Amino acid sequence: MARKKQPRVVSTGSGENIRQYAVAVGVVIVTVLGLRHYTIAAGSTGLSSLNQSLAASTLVLLGVVLLLGPLARLYGIFDGFLKYRKELGVMTFFTGAAHVYLVMFPLARRGPFGFYLAQPVSAYAGLTGLVIMFILLVLSVSVVERAIGTRVWWKLQYWGARLAFVAIVLHALVLKYAGWGRWISQRMGLPPLGFLAGVFAAFVLVVRISEVFGSRPARTVTAASFLTAVVFTAWVFM
Ligand code: HEM
Repeated sequence: MARKKQPRVVSTGSGENIRQYAVAVGVVIVTVLGLRHYTIAAGSTGLSSLNQSLAASTLVLLGVVLLLGPLARLYGIFDGFLKYRKELGVMTFFTGAAHVYLVMFPLARRGPFGFYLAQPVSAYAGLTGLVIMFILLVLSVSVVERAIGTRVWWKLQYWGARLAFVAIVLHALVLKYAGWGRWISQRMGLPPLGFLAGVFAAFVLVVRISEVFGSRPARTVTAASFLTAVVFTAWVFM
């Protein structure tokens, strides 16, 4: 088994807490703006481009949150980033909620619940992801952390983040796989952002699953799947 870094419910000083949140907010802003730039280059406009970048940023950043643990266990170089995991996780709820607000209200063509009726599997999977993220957000308030105790708190975070991630991958996959398939066969314009986020999500899932087999196989699988994801991504841009 991979060496587990002992989880902690850390009571850092408020100065350090603020600094960690400032870093997480900065990372989120740069990601959303960077991905929005991409969606515009790929042909999206206005609120729709913002919506797609918020959706993909949520998936990617939640993926980063899930990756930091295994990466720190396998490669010491990532140790220093572990402390931002919680703050980044908290911020992804807000980007996810902004995406859901946009698709249910300003961008909804058939009212707030039209999408739930037209695409129930995808919509309820996405909603499940958002609800779990909300529960994790409430759980990450220090008072709640202390009240439920480190072990239970950690278990809930551990399984909650994974479940939310899988639900969101299912949401995007069910909704978009046909469009991604069309894009692959025609290769017109830039690859859809959701597709690139999906490649990253697949990498995250492979890394997380590989941990089950112990640290040596996990290291090999992580390196090989990273290379595969990079080469595949480069190929779709060619
Ligand atoms: C935190 C929860 C959620 C996340 C992280 C999320 C993430 C995503 C992702 C990655 C995409 C693909 C974007 C793309 O291909 O560019 C997407 C698309 C979409 N999602 Fe969500 N989603 C969530 C919840 C929901 C919910 C609850 C709904 C239903 C109201 C919803 C409605 C949509 C719609 C309509 C699209 C298509 C947008 C478009 O093509 O412009 N999502 N979402």
